[in-house]
This record gives sequence, structure tokens and C-alpha cells, in this order.
Amino acid sequence: MPNPDEIRDAQRATWAGLSAGWEKWDQVIMDQLGPVGAALIECLDLNEEQQHLDIASGTGEPGLSIARLLPTGRVVLTDLVAEMLDIAARRASAQGIATIETTVCSADDLPFDDATFDSVSVRFGYMFFPDMAGATAEFVRVLKPGGRLCSSVWVKPEENPWTAIAMQAIATEAVIAPPDNDGPNMFRCAAPGCVSALYRGAGLRDIAEWDVHVELVTESPEQYWDMISEHVSLAVAALQRVDEPARERIRADAIAKVGAFKKDGKVRVPGVARCIVGTTQDAIVEVSTRVL
Ligand SMILES: C[S@@+](CC[C@H](N)C(=O)[O-])C[C@H]1O[C@@H](n2cnc3c(N)ncnc32)[C@H](O)[C@@H]1O
Repeated sequence: MPNPDEIRDAQRATWAGLSAGWEKWDQVIMDQLGPVGAALIECLDLNEEQQHLDIASGTGEPGLSIARLLPTGRVVLTDLVAEMLDIAARRASAQGIATIETTVCSADDLPFDDATFDSVSVRFGYMFFPDMAGATAEFVRVLKPGGRLCSSVWVKPEENPWTAIAMQAIATEAVIAPPDNDGPNMFRCAAPGCVSALYRGAGLRDIAEWDVHVELVTESPEQYWDMISEHVSLAVAALQRVDEPARERIRADAIAKVGAFKKDGKVRVPGVARCIVGTTQDAIVEVSTRVL
């Protein structure tokens, strides 16, 4: 079992390697994940002066959308990987957003004072943290009393054919180890209640979780394959372990299977994410019992 430093190093290398794919397919990815960002933002209870922290921001979402809603607030985007945050900064300037700050750091070791932020968001980051309970404790530490934490994770692969199709095609040519629930992988938090239990363990109240449906839309089955094989962590890692002829067979298999999802001249493959919200305890008001 790798130690936390080794996990962070491996994650840094993985996401630095995936960053070009995320930038290339930015629009397709953002369209697919948009409903999840919107669901997170809806339960953040934003007000104009809000101080917001986005964790594992990657190429910037939902932090950039939140910054657009908080022109006089403060939004800090953080990620373990500088290459991902560089893309977030480029996207911010392309969108005319000048108010964000970016900080490279690990979710379980945040360089912020206690009780700094009104809200924290984590879109599709949890499953990659070396210590998910430690990270949740950090989110609670930097949140003010009554602050809101909203995150999202993927539910099981069977409900996410947009990635399962590619993984099934890869499995015809390569041995894919079953997901390790103790190690980083995109389905590590798929079990219902997994993230809620972390929230409860960190002392959050009013915890709720619910599912959000997404759709990956591409112009063609070929574009589906190019996009998946260039940015999905599981697929990219598995494809590195097979030779060129095997990669070609996998590509052909995935393209044939995803053809079943053609609709209205596009390829539309569904998926399901889970959102989880919780609130930090209110400040304890010290009441003097001294009789005046
Ligand atoms: C699937 S991407 C999500 C990006 C973005 N939030 C989105 O939804 O588009 C996962 C991100 O988690 C980041 N990550 C992995 N391990 C991390 C850690 N220990 N602390 C902070 N971020 C981490 C990766 O660098 C990557 O940018």
C-alpha cells in the first residue's frame, strides 16, 4: 500500500500528464459536467461578500462559475497540480474573470487559517485524496461556523456507460485490476453514503446526498474515443499497458459499442454523479452565568 506522499506524487504525475487532454476537450467536458457544477452551486447558499474555496479545481470548475456570481467576493481555486491550475488561470482570463486566486496545495494540507471561508466545493476530487477523512477535517477547519461543504463523486460504473464502455473495451485486451477502495480511482466513493460518512465523522450537520444525471455528447463515435482516451484517468493508465495493435482493437470495439448511443446526429452517453452537502456546526456562544 503506497504511503500518502507516494499517492500524492503519483497523482501529480497522472494529472500533469492528463492536463493537455483536459484543455483540448475542455468544452465537451464542461458541457458534460455542467449539471453537477450547477447542483453544487445551488446548495452553496452564495451571497455577494462570500469567501469561497474550490478544492481540486483542476481546469477551474466550479470555481470559475462561482467567481462569476461573486464579483465582490473572494474565490480561491486550489489543486495539487500546477499544470491543471495554469489551465484554470488561462480559462479565467479568456472568460474575463480577474478576481480568482490560485494556490497549488493538497486537499489534506491547506495553507489557510481556521474559519476563513463561508463555503467549500469539491467537484470530482474526493476519490483522489490520499486521506479522505483528513481532507474533510481540513475543509471543516477552514470553514467558518455554519459554513457549507458541497462535493460530488461518481456513482458505480454500471450507471456510467460514458466511461464503462471504454473500460469494457480495454478489458478485452488487458487485465484491469478491480478498483481498490483504499486507493485513488474515479469510483472509490461510489458506494451510497461513503462521503456522507466522512462528513459525519468530521462533525458536519444537515448532511444530504442526491444523484445528478449527466450526458456526454460528442459529434461521432470516433470523437468519443479520442476524448475518453485522452483525458479519463483510468482509461489513459490502462491504455499505457497495451501495445499499438491492441490499442487499435480496443478503439474499434469502443467505437462500435458507443454507436448504440447515437441520437439526433450526435453520440449521447449518460452517466450519474452523486452530490453531497453538509454544514459546519454553529459557533458556540459563551453565555456568562455570573450574576450581575
Ligand atoms: C477529475 S479532476 C476534477 C477537476 C475539476 N474540479 C472538475 O470537476 O472539472 C480531479 C482533480 O483532482 C486533483 N487532485 C488529485 N489529488 C489531489 C489532492 N491530494 N489535493 C488536491 N487536488 C488533487 C487533480 O490534480 C485533478 O485536477
